[in-house]
Amino acid sequence: MRSAEFWCKKNLIYISQNVKIKLIYLKQRYYTRKDVESMAVEHIDYSKIEFADLESDQEDLMAIDGIVNDGQITESDIENMLRIRNQLKDFKILMMKYDCALSEVRTKLDVLNKELSLINNRNPFEAIKMRIKTPVSIYKKLSSKGIDFTIDNINDNLSDIAGIRVICSFVDDIYMLAKCLADQDDITVLQRKDYIEHPKKSGYRSLHLIIEIPIFLTQEKEYMKVEVQFRTIAMDFWASLEHKMKYKKNIENQEVISEDLKFSADLINQLDRRMKQIREKIDATEDMN
Ligand code: GTP
Ligand code: MG
Repeated sequence: MRSAEFWCKKNLIYISQNVKIKLIYLKQRYYTRKDVESMAVEHIDYSKIEFADLESDQEDLMAIDGIVNDGQITESDIENMLRIRNQLKDFKILMMKYDCALSEVRTKLDVLNKELSLINNRNPFEAIKMRIKTPVSIYKKLSSKGIDFTIDNINDNLSDIAGIRVICSFVDDIYMLAKCLADQDDITVLQRKDYIEHPKKSGYRSLHLIIEIPIFLTQEKEYMKVEVQFRTIAMDFWASLEHKMKYKKNIENQEVISEDLKFSADLINQLDRRMKQIREKIDATEDMN
């Protein structure tokens, strides 16, 4: 039988393989020596476990336990958790890398905007919004998937830590920009979801790409994932309102509002098409002059 390797660092126990799942996930808390001994896990070499009994760590752990149990985790709890696990610096480095990846994508889009606005006499996009997912959101998303909050798990399981939203006036600009970006030879498209061609049931429309882009550090080149969402101004207007409803609890007449939103999403789609047709007519007139 395979023996369970594990060690304990200041009362936080990291247990490898299947035993980890049993101890960390089922009970949703961290364990002390007494806990471990009472679990009577087979094949454990207790001599390998280093227990520490520092009071401050006990307090930190109790705080984390309470938070993990009631789901009200805060930024400083996450920081404490990472500090106790000796992962705070690595986490900061990882977030810095995602931030650099965002800057790279932003620069690429700015370059395209400059070129295309000179050629076409209009900007292919109106605005760009960028964000790095907060530690609390990262924690919550991992825990909703039943995954432990570790640096490796963040990298392996989440592709929207770095997110960029490109807001265009016209639908054809969305596809043109997305293609220009995807065709660049240092970018790999890992996933493409076209919610404009295939809207969600809610009525949500946007084009989503998960891309991988290299960042150049002092010692190495690293590929980072970035989620790029393209939508029109009208789609963005719709998504903000719908998002508000989604995250509000106990809304009255939710079904009626959802129907209304779906109806409005279709109107917006028609409006986007019309605006494009009008622009094409104007462009054609300009060309004749
Ligand atoms: P997430 O777990 O939310 O990331 O979903 P996913 O991994 O299935 O990816 P998806 O491409 O469906 O959605 C990613 C992001 O698109 C979300 O985080 C939102 O920003 C946005 N989004 C997707 N669906 C909707 C929707 O129905 N309404 C709104 N307002 N935004 C949406
Ligand atoms: Mg997402």
